[in-house]
Amino acid sequence: MTLKVLQITDCHFVRPEQEVLGVGTAASLTSVLAQALAEGVPDAVVVSGDVGHECAQADYRLFHKMLTDYVDAPTLCLPGNHDVLAAMEAAELPLEPLELGSWQIVALDSHEDLLPEASISPMKMAVVAAAKAGSAARHGLLATHHPLTEVGAPWLDKDRIQDPHGVLDEIARMPGPRLRGAIFGHAHQAVEAWFEDIPLLGTPSTCFQFKPQSATFELDDLGPGYRWLKLADDGSISSEAVWLTGSEAPAI
Ligand SMILES: [Fe+2]
Repeated sequence: MTLKVLQITDCHFVRPEQEVLGVGTAASLTSVLAQALAEGVPDAVVVSGDVGHECAQADYRLFHKMLTDYVDAPTLCLPGNHDVLAAMEAAELPLEPLELGSWQIVALDSHEDLLPEASISPMKMAVVAAAKAGSAARHGLLATHHPLTEVGAPWLDKDRIQDPHGVLDEIARMPGPRLRGAIFGHAHQAVEAWFEDIPLLGTPSTCFQFKPQSATFELDDLGPGYRWLKLADDGSISSEAVWLTGSEAPAI
């Protein structure tokens, strides 16, 4: 059975009467979910960080209610640099790895509360190792917030996961499901790169995008987006980034 996974990221959720950089992020999230769910019903959802924009617990609860109003599927949320992990936990967001038949989706926490740069520690790697060791799945999809590759924008690349190949190599060698791919957010744009035969996929934000290859912070004209992944029983992954209808999508 091929699994359909919906990745949404960098929702920067604020309450419906508020905006971030001129975008009503609750409304744009709703538009993304409406379009995605009209395309298909996901077997799982991954929310890869910056769930909120310096959210309080009540805002995370509202985010989760809006998400579950649209989609009833196993969900994995992970924290990004705009998130406060304790508030996510208190709001009972789903933070545990997903076991989906022959696949496991596990998060590597790359964040520190309210700091922009990625932070990976032996303890965070040990969490991934324990999750992999306890899984009966054959294939693994890794989710992080920060990119596992350079995206070509220096102001973003300085905060990416350092030594991404070392991190991926260490995770690939941990006992458990074989690492087949990795997804991330933070870059607010579509990214497609490779580490050996492992696709590294960055996904547009559900609110605003950053201009690719920009030397400094610059917003792109593209609208909200998301990503579909198809995880096959043989361990292969096919995927496409999608933008809201009416926003122009570049070829990747
Ligand atoms: Fe973000």
